[in-house]
Amino acid sequence: MEALLGSAPSCAICAVVLKGWTESREMVIANSLVEGMFDADDPPPDLYAALPDIAAYWTARRGVKLEVTRKAKSVAIHDGGDQGDRHTVLLRAECQASARSSGDAHDPLLAELRIVMRGDEGVAMDRNTSSLSIWRPSEKTKQAGVSSPYVSDTLLSANPLSQISLNVARRWLKTCLETHGSACSVAYAAAEPMWRRMPTRVLEIVSGSTKIYLREPQEHKLTDPRYVALSHCWGQDGTPFTTTHSTLASRKEGIEIAALPQTFRDSLVLSASLGLQYIWIDSLCIIQDDIGDWEAQSAQMASIYRNAYLVLGAANGSSDTMGFLDPREIQELVRLPWRNYGLALQLLPAEGRRWTDSAGPDPLAREPTNARAWCLQERQLPMRALYYGTRQMFWECERMRASEDGDAAAQEGSHLERLCATGNIAGSVFSRPQRSPYEEKRGANWVDWYAMIENYTSRSITKHTDRLPALSGLAQAVTAATRDVYIAGMWKAGLLEGLLWCRTQLGQILCTTADYVAPSWSWASVIGPVQFPVYGWYMNRAQWKAKMSDFEALAEYVSHLTEQKDLDEFGQLKGGYLTLKAPLVPVASIKPRQIETPLIQNLFGQEPLRSVVGDVVLEIQAGEGALTQDMWIEGGLDRPEEGDVSENGRLSVVFLTRLPYVLEDGWIEHRFGLIVQKLDDGQYRRVGFVDGFILGRVEGETLGIVGYLREPKEGDLDEEERPNNLARDPLGLNKSEITIG
Ligand SMILES: *[C@@H]1O[C@H](CO)[C@@H](O)[C@H](O)[C@H]1NC(C)=O
Ligand SMILES: *[C@@H]1O[C@H](CO)[C@@H](O)[C@H](O)[C@H]1NC(C)=O
Ligand SMILES: *[C@@H]1O[C@H](CO)[C@@H](O)[C@H](O)[C@H]1NC(C)=O
Ligand SMILES: *[C@@H]1O[C@H](CO)[C@@H](O)[C@H](O)[C@H]1NC(C)=O
Ligand SMILES: [Zn+2]
Repeated sequence: MEALLGSAPSCAICAVVLKGWTESREMVIANSLVEGMFDADDPPPDLYAALPDIAAYWTARRGVKLEVTRKAKSVAIHDGGDQGDRHTVLLRAECQASARSSGDAHDPLLAELRIVMRGDEGVAMDRNTSSLSIWRPSEKTKQAGVSSPYVSDTLLSANPLSQISLNVARRWLKTCLETHGSACSVAYAAAEPMWRRMPTRVLEIVSGSTKIYLREPQEHKLTDPRYVALSHCWGQDGTPFTTTHSTLASRKEGIEIAALPQTFRDSLVLSASLGLQYIWIDSLCIIQDDIGDWEAQSAQMASIYRNAYLVLGAANGSSDTMGFLDPREIQELVRLPWRNYGLALQLLPAEGRRWTDSAGPDPLAREPTNARAWCLQERQLPMRALYYGTRQMFWECERMRASEDGDAAAQEGSHLERLCATGNIAGSVFSRPQRSPYEEKRGANWVDWYAMIENYTSRSITKHTDRLPALSGLAQAVTAATRDVYIAGMWKAGLLEGLLWCRTQLGQILCTTADYVAPSWSWASVIGPVQFPVYGWYMNRAQWKAKMSDFEALAEYVSHLTEQKDLDEFGQLKGGYLTLKAPLVPVASIKPRQIETPLIQNLFGQEPLRSVVGDVVLEIQAGEGALTQDMWIEGGLDRPEEGDVSENGRLSVVFLTRLPYVLEDGWIEHRFGLIVQKLDDGQYRRVGFVDGFILGRVEGETLGIVGYLREPKEGDLDEEERPNNLARDPLGLNKSEITIG
């Protein structure tokens, strides 16, 4: 360590190893925190110290272990099984600590450097070209590496249009086409004409021409159905380059390539260099001032992105004028001036932080397209996609993901398949049939869908009325795959989970939109990010004590209606309602929530955690006459000014689900539900949520959590199967039918 620190300022390799060790140490700490190896509030004294200050590494007497390994990775999954390997040559530099502290925070430090070979950069494609020629593989290029999908790692090329870089993309495409078989292609009836596989309009690249042409595949009876679909950010700057009624005829007569914004030109250059002649760009292929066309094309979004031969993601392009093929910065790379082999060393991210690690970070997370609502389904839908990020390009298909610097991993199924995997898990928060151990582990119905919605609602969108349309292609594809019923951004089999959305931060106000977007019970009806707290509550506070299926539904689905506004049945809405049969209790008063966690009234146990976004406590009265019970429950109003309506007795709580929180001698009731307001026509409207324990008066004005004693009964299932003795609902509230608009 001492030698390395001394040498790092003047030696590039030592500097890179030191960087690798520092990142490795960060992972060691992060892992030990996750695994709860020590108290995060009272960590070992040198936990966060800089490497040079940690004695355990200085006093290590074993020195640094250097090792060169050859790591074989199987990347291509053939329909029949694995096919071939690729090899990565790694230099591992390991520094063993002399001591371990509590929590193993002094695990060995490991820097892994990939040994890469610099290929011949060759002649790069001209990005600023005014005419394009379609690339066709010649015998020579076939021999020059393009034919073999399994080569050793090559150096990242600074120019994304260099032959090295383009050959990587061509090789991915070739691997996918030749080894992934039907997994990565849509099946068609043989008799179907080719143009049926294409969007209504595409742009045609004509070799040697200075123009591209808007074509209608049906009218031109196109026979090559392979087209690229572009995923891009339109951006704020400048007038977008579009097709409208008045420009439609001239677009068909040809559009000067030189007049197009840079992002479009970049995508044309790439399509041509991959040998593809047709490209679909939404702003040019949809007539932007024709509502009918826009609706018809929106309704086809799923098939446009799903059927595309390749989706091209201009991930780094923050707007159409920016382009996405600028020369790139190549970091953490040490060139080795050794003979003329063009070898270099490149530091790999610490293990656990690589894209190919199953829980590794998404390398596109910080790219501009990931902040746009419209781009979410464009990432989820494709069979095959090529993304251009800030530093390198990435491949994603149903069977493989790979990055330009050489990391590649087999992929089990696409985004879409994984999204559908939690759909229709038997039983949900709504019902409790027997669930298989697998289902218990996978959690609730549609957990991945709602996690995606949390992500979606934090993205930016120009028109709020697009909230459902920008997701419609995905909703359509998921419906086709699962046969569940889509209800205004939620799924019938996971409806209860979906109704329980709330703000993500204390103090955040969820405004409604001026134009109608969705019924008040849908997350789409409000502006701003939302979360679905049922899952978080379970994961953080109950999973050690209760099973997901211990949630008990208090509400039953009766019926619903959503009125679509246009041709797209998954798109814009103009009305809708949902009828439930559920306990409905009037709100007697609303007060600010007390800061301290309420005491537990008649049971002992550890202090339960509360919702982090609740800020009011609602007094509710259940029962009639002498049986009236006073109770309180915590929650929050989506728009706090609506608390005023409680004055005239129009607010009620609808309970949707309950889950026990098991203590030593019994349990306390956690309930989730909605705060609704009665309208003049007898229907209700959502104005907030409840998420908390049933509270009662302890002494005087103080509220405490009501506990229920565990009382095993004759004929109860044994502990294993029903750890909570949750046989009955202690409140036994009657249900009534209510309709929420
Ligand atoms: C690209 O072309 C534009 C005109 O279309 C020209 O103004 C610009 O200088 C060119 N850039 C390069 C790098 O050649
Ligand atoms: C990525 O975007 C940034 C900001 O627009 C730009 O400066 C950079 O050159 C872009 N990189 C590439 C590879 O296009
Ligand atoms: C949303 O999901 C994308 C894709 O997985 C990810 O890169 C991005 O960081 C997420 N954004 C948020 C706000 O969670
Ligand atoms: C619940 O409904 C039953 C039958 O309709 C009725 O007898 C009872 O009083 C109701 N209980 C409460 C608490 O409202
Ligand atoms: Zn594939």
